[in-house]
Amino acid sequence: MSKTSKIALAEALALGSNWRHLCYVMLYAPNPEVLFDRIPLRYAVLMYMRFDGRLGFPGGFVNGHSSSLEDGLSKELLNKLGDGASTFTMAPTDYRTSLADAKSEVVAHFYTKCLTLEQLQAVEARAPLANDYGLEVLGLVRVPLYSLHDGVGGLPAFLENSFIGVAREQLLEALQDLGILAPEIVSLLKERVARHKQLLGLGGT
Ligand code: IMP
Repeated sequence: MSKTSKIALAEALALGSNWRHLCYVMLYAPNPEVLFDRIPLRYAVLMYMRFDGRLGFPGGFVNGHSSSLEDGLSKELLNKLGDGASTFTMAPTDYRTSLADAKSEVVAHFYTKCLTLEQLQAVEARAPLANDYGLEVLGLVRVPLYSLHDGVGGLPAFLENSFIGVAREQLLEALQDLGILAPEIVSLLKERVARHKQLLGLGGT
């Protein structure tokens, strides 16, 4: 998607039939595990490495035969992630935001879904058996939510990766809105991302 603007769900659903709808979800689960006996992981948050070498959230185009966006997203998840995604259903309450791209007539809907750690582990374990594995999906990754002593390792380094579309912004916004990261931390991370992009000559936003 190129130039996008936020749009309310009702407005998005009222767009003409020439518009195509994309749906993505951030799957996450509370995680009591501790790294190196000192760093509480708190949550497991899933993203995936796409065919184009960028990180994104699982999902995709919802076809007109689906009864709802959530139904279409659930079908896409079965293709992308395999039958580990059949242990949960996407609900309207999991919806967060929509972004419309008037030029390409594509509107992207973003969801977050809280799973149990067992459900998330089932998704990870079954992903290599999914239709899209090794094709559109090169592997699932968990997002490190901590920063190591050097101030780089962990989430700051993770955010230096290449992300598809607005996936990096969606990740940070969702982590803040869900209370997983404090707003001050998210602001610092956003500033760091902007500096990193400037260094790479990619612009400062
Ligand atoms: P694709 O069909 O998965 O390549 O996605 C089509 C378009 O949707 C991309 O060019 C992106 O602009 C957008 N997109 C794909 N994945 C994500 C995501 O995880 N978050 C936000 N936008 C995405």
